[in-house]
Amino acid sequence: MKILVTGGAGFIGSAFVRMTAGGAHSIVNFDKLTYAGNLENLKPIEGLPRYTFVLGDICDAAAVEAVFAEHKPDAVVHFAAESHVDRSILSPEPVVATNFMGSFQMLEAAKRHGVARYTHVSTDEVYGSIDEPHDADETWPLVASSPYSSSKAGSDLLALSYFKTFKLPVVVTRASNNYGPYQFPEKLIPLMISNALDHQPLPIYGDGQQVRDWLYVDDHCRAILAVLTKGREGEVYNVGGSRALANLDVVKRILEITGKPESLMVTVKDRPGHDRRYAITSEKLERETGWRAEMDFEVGLKATVDWYRANREWVSHVKSGAYRAYYEQNYSNRLSAT
Ligand code: NAD
Ligand code: DAU
Repeated sequence: MKILVTGGAGFIGSAFVRMTAGGAHSIVNFDKLTYAGNLENLKPIEGLPRYTFVLGDICDAAAVEAVFAEHKPDAVVHFAAESHVDRSILSPEPVVATNFMGSFQMLEAAKRHGVARYTHVSTDEVYGSIDEPHDADETWPLVASSPYSSSKAGSDLLALSYFKTFKLPVVVTRASNNYGPYQFPEKLIPLMISNALDHQPLPIYGDGQQVRDWLYVDDHCRAILAVLTKGREGEVYNVGGSRALANLDVVKRILEITGKPESLMVTVKDRPGHDRRYAITSEKLERETGWRAEMDFEVGLKATVDWYRANREWVSHVKSGAYRAYYEQNYSNRLSAT
């Protein structure tokens, strides 16, 4: 199968490309290389005969058409997105453009070219905050809270509409919070690891009791492969890690592993519209495809810390330049905990 992957230079997309590029499938990776896209993430598979990188923007209809026309993919796995909630609050426009209109361009091209399978990578954030004791299944209403999650909810519904209306063979995955190597240090786990290793303050939003369900990135990629090959057209599949933890507990574990003091934690102003709790069930995916989350959180977190410790150069490259401006903008107005 020839698979067109979008956003394959980012955190999850590059893990998917590293997992699949040496195997039975041909992979074409279409990526704009935004601040989050990094060809260093693909060094381990560079030069493989059935792997091709194409620089391009999913919002650019002509570029999207060209990649479909030239490579004639059998399947699409659409990861490309502006993926950070805080950035979507500071600057929603590129988030809405890429996540909604970019996804629209991808669906249109896939429809014109008649692909056999279209996997749209969505998120559990489309369900919004979920009160205890509930876990959302795929029928849960979509109540997104941020420009990021609402643009993802919009594109998720748009993708499903292309199945209903045009019979495009779409499947949608809604995964929980991923962690693992190569994650840009703007998200909770890599930011806390990298600040702890540098003995810098660890900014906790609000009371730190918000709950996230942690999924190791390779488990997510195996789920996408399972859905790509065994998922039913027009269906949605939740992908959870079955490891719900409060942010404060995650950060304390990182401090333990890195051997740093809890005094590095600082309470800062909360994120506006902050979702309190994400919780999903992956029972449908497990039942229909046999997929299971395999990585134990303690083992995965330790492996992730080890990776960041061993790859300080990767971290210093991605933290140079534009990252500093973003960090200043996001955290300077949060210094007080009110
Ligand atoms: P990321 O920010 O690490 O990577 C995004 C990638 O998309 C980058 O390589 C970037 O260059 C590329 N990209 C961005 N805009 C583009 C455009 N206009 N055209 C082409 N390429 C573009 O993101 P991630 O964390 O790897 O997330 C990948 C996907 O998975 C996203 O759709 C995200 O919503 C979804 N998701 C993420 C998580 C998570 O915890 N990170 C959980 C569930 C779902
Ligand atoms: O649930 C899936 C989603 O998980 C994905 O769709 C998103 O792409 C991904 O970014 C992630 O969204 P979150 O908002 O949950 O992730 P983030 O890492 O930004 O934050 C996780 C929790 O940690 C959240 O409650 C906010 C908190 N936080 C985050 C940062 C960056 C802090 O307390 N301090 C911080 O500095």
